[in-house]
Amino acid sequence: THVVTESCIRCKYTDCVDVCPVDCFREGPNFLTIDPDECIDCAVCIPECPVSAIYAEEDLPKDQMHMIQLNEELAQLPGWKSITKRKEPLPDADDWKDKTGKLPQLLR
Ligand code: F3S
Repeated sequence: THVVTESCIRCKYTDCVDVCPVDCFREGPNFLTIDPDECIDCAVCIPECPVSAIYAEEDLPKDQMHMIQLNEELAQLPGWKSITKRKEPLPDADDWKDKTGKLPQLLR
């Protein structure tokens, strides 16, 4: 599967969803997750993300390994609905795009 990493938190640029051929993205309040049961590993979303938040599982940076489990878990939450069309990023996305260690900011 492919995995959305912490860089997406509080940004949610959503460029990724426009290109997904299987509509595997799910939307939370300030993060998108990939449903690993739907992702076909096509990788077309990777270059679309302005903050390079998406990785193939096997290419994940060591400090983002926890996001495999988290993507899977969040994708199962009933409130996290499919998103297939790009929308406006969060209003302060640009203020957060270069920040690291954003996991405590994640809203469910
Ligand atoms: Fe997030 Fe990047 Fe998509 S910031 S919503 S993974 S384009």
